[in-house]
Amino acid sequence: MGKQEQLVAASKKVLIENYGRLDFAAARGKNARLWNVDGEEFIDFFPGFGAGGIAGHCHPRIVEAITIQAETLLSHGNLFTSAPQVDLAERITAHGFGGKVFYCQSGAEANEAALKLVRLAARGGERKADGPYKIISFHNCFHGRTMGALSITPPSFQTGFEPMLPGGQQVDFGDLAAVQSAIDEQTAGVFIEAIQVEGGLNVGSVAFLQGLRKLCDERGVLLVVDEVWTSPARTGKMFAINHYGIEPDAITLGKAIGGGLPVAAMVAHPKWADVLGPGTHGSTMGGNPICAAAGAAAMTLIEDENLCQRAATLGETVRTRLNDAELSCVTDTRGRGLLVGMELDESVAARDVMMTCMDRGLILCIAKNNVVRIAPPLTIEEDLLARGVDILIDVLKQQYS
Ligand SMILES: Cc1ncc(COP(=O)(O)O)c(C=O)c1O
Repeated sequence: MGKQEQLVAASKKVLIENYGRLDFAAARGKNARLWNVDGEEFIDFFPGFGAGGIAGHCHPRIVEAITIQAETLLSHGNLFTSAPQVDLAERITAHGFGGKVFYCQSGAEANEAALKLVRLAARGGERKADGPYKIISFHNCFHGRTMGALSITPPSFQTGFEPMLPGGQQVDFGDLAAVQSAIDEQTAGVFIEAIQVEGGLNVGSVAFLQGLRKLCDERGVLLVVDEVWTSPARTGKMFAINHYGIEPDAITLGKAIGGGLPVAAMVAHPKWADVLGPGTHGSTMGGNPICAAAGAAAMTLIEDENLCQRAATLGETVRTRLNDAELSCVTDTRGRGLLVGMELDESVAARDVMMTCMDRGLILCIAKNNVVRIAPPLTIEEDLLARGVDILIDVLKQQYS
């Protein structure tokens, strides 16, 4: 039995099978390369399920920031602050709409914080027992697995865990008239991803997001943009909202914002920055100094290495190569920056493509059942990116075209 086989077998005895894990045991990584415990090398187009999205695995500057911080201050309670928390929050707020940051550990928790912000803001900032509570979100969205976030995520994820929070309602992504008719006096907020990632890499139009901003303003409803997948830098700008010219009332961040460590955040617009006052919300580990230091190092890397521009350029290259390959099983190639989705026709199961690519040494992921998702680290070497795309094209040509 190889080491991987042993470890996978051991994992099945002690780890809950909620993920449907693949038979793969990761040992070490370097930028966009990942090795399993048997020493086999893979090109990683999906590091850390998005968490390694900026600089892949073990970037020396992130490792250095973590090491220095670990030797200085490992943790502190949130009645105190520390330099890394402030440093990361300054970098985040410099690129969006200003505002203030609440730290937590996961995208779902960031959305939980936004749900509380939205309810409290809709009640004039007062902790009243009732008031507007309804939330509109969109078919094919994904906002997380905790009960609040789940309540605004499609019913297919909710089955078996009902009842949900009351007032969750979904309408078609892109249908402004549907949002308009769904809003009533009990509506507190609208949650949206500018690009629905888990839901199939559906890119929202500028007209739709701008229309939504205008509608929410007119109806006194808060607009929250979930940027857990789309930021920082992934789409070619620091935040996806920078493509749309809108200022939401809050954005939620997760995955790559911690440079690979567990950092997530809810950023409240200056208008609402003081709504969550003392005692309204909290997270013991939120803004842990090591995690915040890793996030700040990743943000510095984005600035120093101009990774927004790199994401835009490399993403264009990938899309062009996929289009030029004229693959008959591909019905659409879309995305923004280095977040690329390739929709396959009904005869091809995206999961089979993913598994075949893995056998050939390329790790990628799927979205829904029919979209191949490509999201390599923004620091990936160009030749490695090209090799990964070669494998994908070859697999699709040989087996599915
Ligand atoms: C857009 C979006 N929001 C929220 C989440 C939940 O993030 P987490 O898994 O860190 O709770 C995800 C996870 O994939 C996501 O894609």
